[in-house]
Amino acid sequence: MRTLVTGAAGQLGREVTRGFARYGSVVALRRDGLDITDHPAVLAAVADAEPDLILNCAAYNNVDGAEDDPLPAMRVNAMAVRSLATAARECDAILVHYSSDFVFDGEASEPYRESAAPGPQSVYATSKLLGEWFAAGAPRHYVLRVESLFGGGAERTDPGEGPLGSTLDRMVDALEADRPIRGFTDRIVSPSYVPDVAAATAVLVTGASAPGLYHCVNTGQASWFDVALATARRLGREALLSPITMADVDMPAARPRYCALSNEKILAAGAVMPRWEDALERYLEARQAS
Ligand SMILES: NC(=O)c1ccc[n+]([C@@H]2O[C@H](COP(=O)([O-])OP(=O)(O)OC[C@H]3O[C@@H](n4cnc5c(N)ncnc54)[C@H](OP(=O)(O)O)[C@@H]3O)[C@@H](O)[C@H]2O)c1
Repeated sequence: MRTLVTGAAGQLGREVTRGFARYGSVVALRRDGLDITDHPAVLAAVADAEPDLILNCAAYNNVDGAEDDPLPAMRVNAMAVRSLATAARECDAILVHYSSDFVFDGEASEPYRESAAPGPQSVYATSKLLGEWFAAGAPRHYVLRVESLFGGGAERTDPGEGPLGSTLDRMVDALEADRPIRGFTDRIVSPSYVPDVAAATAVLVTGASAPGLYHCVNTGQASWFDVALATARRLGREALLSPITMADVDMPAARPRYCALSNEKILAAGAVMPRWEDALERYLEARQAS
């Protein structure tokens, strides 16, 4: 199987580039090798690589920045996905596109299933929902909603473009440096461990799973405070953690409050998505080992 990865320097891009090498050749394109907002360049890169599979790991993830300046988010997260779907259709490749829990309004009280109606509350969220719809332009497409991704590491094409790594990476960095951290008690998530997302992606595309939309998160749900508490306890730094609520922080973009996702559909397709506590333990062990 020939795989083309876009956004290959990001946390998920790096992991799938490593992980999919076992299935054949991988063409890993960072942003400086392929800007996915350049439609002719996307068509040319895909025609050149002749992939069986395109993994789109490129994204504009500056949730607050998108409120003031919506066009970059719309170009990368929505219009560029249309280009990738066109390219996938032309070379008969599978397209995998990653989306977000932010497509929901966060007003639910039980985990969202794939059939739940979206209700994006921000420019970023809207751009991700449009991307899902454009990805469906590829005849064999998989749209995987992930959330609170952690454990991948990343490199920036432009080092001036903001902090590297996931929220959890930054929390662990702070705890290890004996700096205080805060965790939202009122934002409920189902975290996604990057190696588990990559493995689940492989299960879908190498098996006979029906194309379409899947929630690709670790099992269980927790507030960000719970995740931070489990992390701080494991590192023996519990005293450095304090609780906050979303109302305590001035954020330009609205965040969904309750956004646990049901992963029953992807489990039924054969993916293994361990509980988030198990994923957290493996992540902390991997950090310690490296
Ligand atoms: N991180 C999360 O918590 C989270 C939550 C929900 C959903 N997701 C989704 O999960 C997927 C993977 O996220 P991630 O955390 O791995 O993201 P990431 O680490 O920010 O990586 C995204 C990559 O896309 C690249 N990129 C940006 N604009 C591009 C363009 N025009 N052309 C080509 N590449 C471009 C970035 O390059 P530069 O860094 O050089 O700009 C970066 O390498 C994305 O679809 C994201 O929206 C992530």
